[in-house]
Amino acid sequence: MSFDAVVLGAGPAGYVCAIRLAQLGQKTAIVESKAIGGVCLNVGCIPSKALISASKLFKQIGHADVMGIRVGEPSLDVAKLVEWKDKIVDQLTGGVGHLLAKNGVEIVQGSGRVVEPRKVEVQSSSGIQVVEADNIVVATGSRPIEIPGFHFDGEQVWSSTDALSPKELPRRVLIIGGGYIGLELGFVYKNFGSEVRVVEALDRVLPNMDPELSKEMTKSLKKRKMPVHVGAKAQGYRETAEGLVVTVELNNGKTEEFTCDVILSSVGRSPNGGGLGLEELGVEVTDKGFIPVDPQRRTNISNIYAIGDVTGQPMLAHKGSAEGLVAAAAIAGDTGAAFDPAAIPLVVFTDPEIASVGLTEEEASAQGFEPVVGKFPFRASGRALSLNETDGWTKVIADKHTDKILGVHMIGPEVTELVAEPTLAIEMGATAEDLAMTIHAHPTLPETLMEAAENLHKKAVHILN
Ligand code: NAI
Repeated sequence: MSFDAVVLGAGPAGYVCAIRLAQLGQKTAIVESKAIGGVCLNVGCIPSKALISASKLFKQIGHADVMGIRVGEPSLDVAKLVEWKDKIVDQLTGGVGHLLAKNGVEIVQGSGRVVEPRKVEVQSSSGIQVVEADNIVVATGSRPIEIPGFHFDGEQVWSSTDALSPKELPRRVLIIGGGYIGLELGFVYKNFGSEVRVVEALDRVLPNMDPELSKEMTKSLKKRKMPVHVGAKAQGYRETAEGLVVTVELNNGKTEEFTCDVILSSVGRSPNGGGLGLEELGVEVTDKGFIPVDPQRRTNISNIYAIGDVTGQPMLAHKGSAEGLVAAAAIAGDTGAAFDPAAIPLVVFTDPEIASVGLTEEEASAQGFEPVVGKFPFRASGRALSLNETDGWTKVIADKHTDKILGVHMIGPEVTELVAEPTLAIEMGATAEDLAMTIHAHPTLPETLMEAAENLHKKAVHILN
């Protein structure tokens, strides 16, 4: 089999790249060892969001009496929940498979290894197949990191994948890692009624985000009675009649034991750049497994490209997809193609949600800007009040001299959707005044962006500036 391009990995980076390659007239193959859609569609973004929506509805039903709605105590059918979630995954992965096929992309099932700069060997249960291609795109993603003493066994120690298909609701969950996955899944189990405790090694949850967001999230966790131990390290666990006893070294140096029924270990992900035959061909792969690339997503060998989690942080589906489009354009001969976003939005589906795009105040100062901040609380938004979700705020950061928007950070209702507007604003070089003078429909949540931009100039109407 001979192609213009072969893509290794059919996650959101790889399949998007393959479809675009086909659209650009390139004869394309895609190699996948597991399921079309990769981690994101099968055991990541999509199934977790399904569980998050269900758990949020479960919580809302439990609190509906504040609106005068009486429904009684809700109960959970775990098997049906998992079945519903699996159906969504099937529908989406089936759709992507259909799109690949209808665009003429050859799907090769098996595990790919690059044996020559233009040759990939694909191993499957039916033997080895050779795929030759002028260009190779590595989109092999990442896998959950395992820490010593907490080997994933799917029963006592869960990876995020295990947490998406529980057999029953655990009464007590201990989460190691207060990052994206730990907190998103933590709220799922909390909303369904589990007791949830979080152990985070660094000095705050979501340590990679705006510090004020971490602080607000810490308040929410406290309000929801989810104990968090920061600066703490889980050292190991043992099974007892009462449950799993986890030993944790706290930030004061003391050691404490916590009993739970299941441990969810979510301490980050590690790139799958090694073991693909690349190093043997001279492709640079860092000792962590990342593959350095240029703006066109080319590795140091010019016909071998890499996109998605293997190229580095942020390991986000939408960043991988965007890189896939750039690599496809470059392969099809567009010399101007480059991965050069002004900003990449981050969204965390906690309760309340968090979204961030662009620089924090610290980053802005470090880059030589003079940051000015405007803020607007959701409790002053009529729409937030009518949704009965008033926790959180919107923060806009602009440069004092040019008024250009540098970053927007939000915590509150639907902010994972709201972040699209400031992302476009930053991408287009908009100023805080542009945001403030854009007429926003009333009553809607994005009005908080307009008001935060107005507050930056001390002119917000619905709060005291
Ligand atoms: P993460 O990097 O977000 O968080 C891991 C946390 O674990 C960090 O806060 C770290 O300090 C802590 N940690 C590390 N070792 C520890 C230890 N021994 N004990 C206690 N804490 C420890 O990683 P996470 O949550 O596993 O997610 C992996 C990746 O998946 C993220 O980088 C993110 O890019 C992606 N993701 C994106 C989502 C989204 O866009 N909504 C949702 C979920 C994941």
